[in-house]
Amino acid sequence: MAESLLKSGTTKAEQYEALIQQLMHLIGDEKNTVANLANVAAGLKQYFGFFWVGFYLVENMELVLGPFQGPVACTRIGFGRGVCGSAWKQNKSLLVPNVEEFPGHIACSSLSKSEVVIPIRKNDLIIGVLDVDSDVLNDFDDVDVKYLEKLCDWLSTVL
Ligand code: SME
Repeated sequence: MAESLLKSGTTKAEQYEALIQQLMHLIGDEKNTVANLANVAAGLKQYFGFFWVGFYLVENMELVLGPFQGPVACTRIGFGRGVCGSAWKQNKSLLVPNVEEFPGHIACSSLSKSEVVIPIRKNDLIIGVLDVDSDVLNDFDDVDVKYLEKLCDWLSTVL
């Protein structure tokens, strides 16, 4: 069966709402973690054209690279390290308008300029993070955070 995503909506909020609906439909009652994370990463990349979209999953007090779309990336990130490890440690989403101004930012690619990281929680425990990178400075705002959080809240129910 062919699967495709249709971009619709005028505002970014409407576009996210349309994307989330389609991802929910695409994933349905599938519970395979790799398959679902892979399709969400691909969906975000295809729909918005972000530079890098992917997941890091908690394993033995480290974040380990999961399904992603974009250039190759670092495999392991320690607790409290970089933007991803900081979002995990601080237990909150982090919006970084300029990665060069974030102390300890891990530059997997020198082309990445701004970044947003959203924790994924299951039973109040962080099981991983969604990391979205842009090659444009200041490319994310509160709308991205709001809808990516919404996406991750739903995603945790199908993992
Ligand atoms: N920049 C991230 C590392 C992951 S890559 O960007 C894909 C960080 O500082 O945690």
